[in-house]
Amino acid sequence: MPKRRLIPHRRWDSCLPLQPKNWVKIMKIAMIGTGYVGLVTGACLAKIGHEIICVDHDDTKVVALRGGTIPIYEPGLDNVVAEAIGKGQLSFTADLAQAVESVDVVFIAVGTPQASDGRSDLSQIETAAKQIAKSANGDKLVVVKSTVPVGTCRRVGRILGKHGGSHSFRVASNPEFLREGNAVSDFMQPDRIVYGSNTAEAEAVMDEIYAQFEADNVPMVKTTLETSELIKYSANAFLAAKVAFINEMANLCDATGANVEDLSLGIGLDERIGKAFLKPGPGYGGSCFPKDTLALTILAQEADSPSRIIESVVDSNSNHIRRLGRKIADFCADSWGEERANPLIDKRIAVLGLAFKANTDDIRSAASTVIAPLLIKQGASVIGFDPEATQAAEAVIDHIETTTDIDTALTGADAVVVLTEWDVIKAIEWAEKRPLLNAPVVIDLRNLYAPERMAELEYHYLSLGRPNPA
Ligand code: UGA
Repeated sequence: MPKRRLIPHRRWDSCLPLQPKNWVKIMKIAMIGTGYVGLVTGACLAKIGHEIICVDHDDTKVVALRGGTIPIYEPGLDNVVAEAIGKGQLSFTADLAQAVESVDVVFIAVGTPQASDGRSDLSQIETAAKQIAKSANGDKLVVVKSTVPVGTCRRVGRILGKHGGSHSFRVASNPEFLREGNAVSDFMQPDRIVYGSNTAEAEAVMDEIYAQFEADNVPMVKTTLETSELIKYSANAFLAAKVAFINEMANLCDATGANVEDLSLGIGLDERIGKAFLKPGPGYGGSCFPKDTLALTILAQEADSPSRIIESVVDSNSNHIRRLGRKIADFCADSWGEERANPLIDKRIAVLGLAFKANTDDIRSAASTVIAPLLIKQGASVIGFDPEATQAAEAVIDHIETTTDIDTALTGADAVVVLTEWDVIKAIEWAEKRPLLNAPVVIDLRNLYAPERMAELEYHYLSLGRPNPA
């Protein structure tokens, strides 16, 4: 098992709340999968002093990572990776067997994408478990970091037992709660750390891995495998429910003349509700909420304990974005004074923000992937602006033109649709941009601008749940 050794006092980044320790038990850990979760977790565990070897079957990616090239856009991650490589605490390999042999703890952080039936596709988890078992040269703790349905860790345990010869394996579940775009600071300043395990020995090793956080009074939730797996789904489903709820309230505000910003504040100041995740938008997207809410509804149905609440959240979110698609077309037609049956034909629409939220290049289940095709289908030509996600968007949205320059997007536009809350989009000064536009029509699905200011500038301005001044 890992040796305890003294390490010198280190410089800690400002985002790290942990008090510097002059001790840490260095754990040697293999991280299978260098996707978003694996790479961030691996790099951050290295940053807190452990020795991490990240494994990916993609040789080209491994070579790039060794050179410090990060395949995703995640603020601050490049520095963490470079620093950890420099200190010799983080390395990359395509050789899973060699990585497994050299450690006592193996994290599985591979993808669990949505299968066509809405369930999580666990094939990568199963493959990783088999490979770990076959490569094992001794007893190992296997930690499932990927988001997985309840029961998966036990299944991993069975696979390990079946293929692992005489070696014995312990299993732990350790869900991650990192947000894309904030991942490094979320790791360093967690609200809590959750792990579930099947033995006291497994829990003791997890305690060592996260010892520094516990010493700094980060709340630790140590529980069973099943509970830990379900905590992850429940957290995402609850947050998704808050977003869906506030989007419905924004629609109700529009219908009644109330103001959703005051409403969010008015309810969010109640500590039992909390202010976070009460910003209306074009519906939740990304690689987690849509997939995890759906997977949870299936899990609940199969357990003969259906969750009507989460089923409604899923419906509410998909209705919301479709409704917004119709609203955009109607608002454009009214603003232009168009009475044609198909008002969008031959119009040029600038879509500002293609990523599912700011500070990421991820467009999975992004509003842009629904709204842009809807506009294009109705005859509009769409130019999408995004600082990081243009390439990804071009790969999945047919006939979209993209740019990383806001003025290019706005030039000649008959309407502007704001979908992502990037700072650079928030900072647009609409008085200056007016001459570029063919018509002063702005549909702001992130509530980034003051309705009073937009009225003063004589824009036709639509936002969510906020009345325009009379
Ligand atoms: C989410 C969770 O927040 C993380 O805790 C979790 O670790 C992660 O999923 C995961 O399971 O891996 P993420 O998908 O990065 O993180 O994005 P969020 O910041 O949670 O936003 C999700 C969606 O909700 C986005 O489309 C965002 O625009 C939307 N949202 C969020 C709103 O529309 N309004 C809000 O007030 C907050």
